[in-house]
Amino acid sequence: SATQFCSAGISGNDVASCGVPSPSTRILIKGGTVVNAHHQQVADVYVEDGVIVAVQPNIKVGDEVTVLDATGKFVMPGGIDPHTHLAMEFMGTETIDDFFTGQAAALAGGTTMHIDFVIPVNGDLVAGFEAYQHKSKKSCMDYGFHVAITKWDEGVSRDMEKLVKEKGINSFKFFMAYKGSLMVTDDLLLEGLKRCKSLGALAMVHAENGDAVFEGQNRMIELGITGPEGHALSRPPVLEGEATSRAIRLARFVNTPLYVVHVMSVDAMDEIAKARKSGQKVIGEPVVSGLILDDHWLWDPDFSIASKYVMSPPIRSVGHGKALQEALSTGILQLVGTDHCTFNSTQKALGLDDFRKIPNGVNGLEERMHLIWDTMVGTGQISATDFVRITSTECARIFNIYPRKGAILAGSDADIIILNPNSTYEISSKSHHSRSDTNVYEGRRGKGKVEVTIAGGRIVWENDELKVVPGSGKYIEMPPFSYLFNGIEKSDANYLSSLRAPVKRLRYQPTS
Ligand code: URP
Ligand code: ZN
Ligand code: ZN
Ligand code: ZN
Repeated sequence: SATQFCSAGISGNDVASCGVPSPSTRILIKGGTVVNAHHQQVADVYVEDGVIVAVQPNIKVGDEVTVLDATGKFVMPGGIDPHTHLAMEFMGTETIDDFFTGQAAALAGGTTMHIDFVIPVNGDLVAGFEAYQHKSKKSCMDYGFHVAITKWDEGVSRDMEKLVKEKGINSFKFFMAYKGSLMVTDDLLLEGLKRCKSLGALAMVHAENGDAVFEGQNRMIELGITGPEGHALSRPPVLEGEATSRAIRLARFVNTPLYVVHVMSVDAMDEIAKARKSGQKVIGEPVVSGLILDDHWLWDPDFSIASKYVMSPPIRSVGHGKALQEALSTGILQLVGTDHCTFNSTQKALGLDDFRKIPNGVNGLEERMHLIWDTMVGTGQISATDFVRITSTECARIFNIYPRKGAILAGSDADIIILNPNSTYEISSKSHHSRSDTNVYEGRRGKGKVEVTIAGGRIVWENDELKVVPGSGKYIEMPPFSYLFNGIEKSDANYLSSLRAPVKRLRYQPTS
C-alpha cells in the first residue's frame, strides 16, 4: 500500500513523495450504518471544517462537497487509544515510532486519537511535559497526555496541580514495577493517590510487584535461564494479582477512583471484578496483545521472534486472553488499549544474552481496531455498539472529553472511520506503517477493514493510501473531575459521620 507523507520537517526513509491532503473541508458520508455506543441507525453524516454538523437520513448538499458512499458499511467514531508510548526513552534506547510514524500507523488502522505517557525528566513533571510537547510537534492526529510520577516531594505535588489546572492533564500514572528506574513504593503511591483525589485527576497503575519481579529475575539467572522465556517465568500472574489488589485496596482506603493499565491476567482481572462488585470505582484496561496472543512465542528458539513478544506484564499462557475478552464483553473491563511501545529487532537484540535487557514493548496502534472487530464482533461476542464503546466512547468518558470525542453527534469532532465488514486484510511488517521491522501479529488475517479514516475533518486514509500532514494534530486538553468522581464528596461525608456515630462509640464502651 502506498504511503504519502508530507515531508515538511520530517526526515527518514519512510518519507515518500508528498501527498496532498484532501482540499475539501466539507464531506458527506452517505447511506452507512452510523454506530454510537448507545445506538445505531442508517443515516448520512455531514462534516464541515473539522466538525460533525448533522447526522440524519437523506442529507442534501451542493457540488463542492466530497461525497463518500458508505452503503453496507459501518460509520463509527475513530478509535481512541488510551495507552501508547511514542518516542519514549526506555531501557537504554528509544521507541522506534515517534509522534509522526506512530500516528500515521494509527490513522491507517482507524485510530484518530491517542493518549501517551509523559515520562518526567529526573522526576521533574513540568520538564517532562515540555519535552513531550516538543516531541509531539510533528503530530498528524489529535493526542493527549497522562503524566507518570516517579518520585515524591513538594515540587512534584505542586507540579501536579499546575499540570491539572493549566496544562490539560487529568491523569497520573504510577509504576509499581521497574525497580531501580520508574518504580514507586507504597508510601509514594499513597501520597499520589491523595493528591490525585484532591485535584480530580485519575490515578493509573502499572500493577506488578517490582520487588518480587526483581527476585524472580535473579531466580531465573541463577537457574541459567537467560532467554526471552525467562521474562515470563520471572514475573508470573501472581505478582500482577498482588499489585492489582494492593493498588485497589489503597485506592479504596483513600476513596479515589483507580485505573489499572494493561490488565494481562485472570489474577488481576478477578481483583478488579471483586472491587467493582463491591461498588468501588475501578477501571480495567486490557490491551490487544493480552487479549489475542499467548506466551508460547516466548519459547521460540529464534531469539528474533521470541524477543518481539517481551512486554510487561508478560503476555500470559493460553486461557488468560479469552477470559479477558469475556470480561470485556460483560463490562467487568471497560476499554481496550494497545500499550504500543515498539522496538525494532536490533533494539530487541540488546537482550540477546539476558532477557532483563530486552526492551519491553509490542506494537498494536495500527492493528487494535481491526483485531478487536475481527476477534470480538466477528465472532458475535460483542455488538458494533459495544465495539464503539470499548474502542472509543468509554475512553472519551473516562478522560472527560466526551462527546467532543468518542461520538458521531452534531458538534463532535469529525474523527470518523468507515469500516467494511466484508473486506479482508493480512497484517505484515512489509505493509504496516510503523517504523518497526517486525510485527507481533505477522501473517494474521482478518475480516472487517477500515477503508476510510477522517481525522479532524480531513480524509487521511482512503484506497490504502495515507495522506497525513505533520503538525496537523492538536493537543487535546482533558479537564479534571470526570464522571468517576461523582459522589466522592458524599461518600467521604458518610464515612466521617460514621466515625462519629454515637451508636458506634457506645458499642465499644465497657458496660458496668
Ligand atoms: O512492556 C511495556 N509495557 N512497555 C511499556 C512500558 C509500560 O510498562 O507500559
Ligand atoms: Zn505536503
Ligand atoms: Zn506499564
Ligand atoms: Zn505502557
